[in-house]
Amino acid sequence: MDKIIIRGGKKLKGEVIISGSKNSALPILFATLLTDEPSVIKNVPSLADINTTVEFLNFIGKKTVKKGNTVRTYPSEKYRHIAPYDLVRKMRASILIMGPLLARLNRVDVSLPGGCTIGARPIDIHLDAFKKLGAGIFVEGGYVKTLAENGLKGAVIDLKFPSVGATENILLSAVLAKGKTTIINAAKEPEIEDLANVLNKMGAKINGASTGKIVIDGVDGLRGFTHEVIPDRIEAATYMIAAAITKGDIVLKSVIPKHIEAVSNKLKKSGFFVKENKTSIRVKWVKSLKPHNIKTEVYPGFPTDVQAQWMALMCLLKGHSKIEETIFENRFMHVAELQRFGANITVDCKVANITGVEKFSGAPVMVSDLRAGAALVLAGLAAEVKTIVSRIYHLDRGYEMLEKKLKKLGADIKRVHSS
Ligand code: EPZ
Repeated sequence: MDKIIIRGGKKLKGEVIISGSKNSALPILFATLLTDEPSVIKNVPSLADINTTVEFLNFIGKKTVKKGNTVRTYPSEKYRHIAPYDLVRKMRASILIMGPLLARLNRVDVSLPGGCTIGARPIDIHLDAFKKLGAGIFVEGGYVKTLAENGLKGAVIDLKFPSVGATENILLSAVLAKGKTTIINAAKEPEIEDLANVLNKMGAKINGASTGKIVIDGVDGLRGFTHEVIPDRIEAATYMIAAAITKGDIVLKSVIPKHIEAVSNKLKKSGFFVKENKTSIRVKWVKSLKPHNIKTEVYPGFPTDVQAQWMALMCLLKGHSKIEETIFENRFMHVAELQRFGANITVDCKVANITGVEKFSGAPVMVSDLRAGAALVLAGLAAEVKTIVSRIYHLDRGYEMLEKKLKKLGADIKRVHSS
């Protein structure tokens, strides 16, 4: 398996172009199942999860081709209604196949996705919503079998938690349901708004996508679309923290500053120079940063997907800080690996207490999940000795051309292929 070798201590300087959002591109790709007309999706990042989704769509019966950062789908024949384990286990977001296939075929059988390192990742909120829309659901042989004999009917769906995936699955099904659906306590992440914009381009009738209360008037059919995916706010936040942890000076291009305000504000409060323009952000280390506590929250709060990266930064700032993870039940897997760098962290249930250390010592470390991997790379960039990061396939799921972009910013980083 490939490894990344980093010789840290270099200040990162220069420009980095942020790629399209993985978490926006995924539901938009699944949305292509809602129409038989061709569609074009631009600014799609080249990532393992995107390739998995393209493979999945072709398996289901939607001819899909990715060339560079553009995905084209073609008129489809008959769709399969079964999503097998060997595809679903690769990527949790595969659960988004349920909404479109229920809407088109009135049935879908999906292998239970299984958990992952950051938590059990249940799908009860998704299933409760489909029941409210008129689907019968039962679990058999490791599959969730869903059938809406009389088709989907609009309903009022009050989410017990503003689940991003569940909100997306409801949008992907209710657009073709009979009548009106209202989602209460819906997720407000920018990726929800991007998906709603695509569905409305297709002829759907969706209002309130970023408000927490979304109203969908079902229509009879949807047409093809062309769309450019929004920038990846989590990738952007990761490079902002890379500048902070290496005392560098970076301009991020192709970003939407508003989408990552929670992180920018925290960096400003820590004493980091942050200048937002329309589609770019300049981040520059000007003086020693002060540690700042964070508590992860749903959007527009501090994103859970930036928690690990923030922790890596806090480990090197003089003083104490506290990180509270409120979204996932087990998202501190990176703590043990950061401790191998010499970080001083104690964990008490969902709260990590950090005392800054002078510097990291490089160490061989292992990636457990996508964002934990980003935190370890950031730690390696700051450590003044060699760091070897293994199991980097997790990183390939969410960071396009990671080493190339970091090398362009002056990092001494290389990927080593090993069997
Ligand atoms: C999306 O996951 C993102 N993934 C995650 O990013 C992100 O961390 C998460 O939203 C929160 O922002 C994609 O968009 C592909 P949730 P999702 O449903 O939809 C619980 C990354 O690094 N829950 O909002 O799975 C769940 O267990 C990934 O890019 C239920 O209990 O997140 C978790 O504790 C990691 N029942 C919380 O809600 C359900 O039916 C948030 O989950 C669904 C979720």
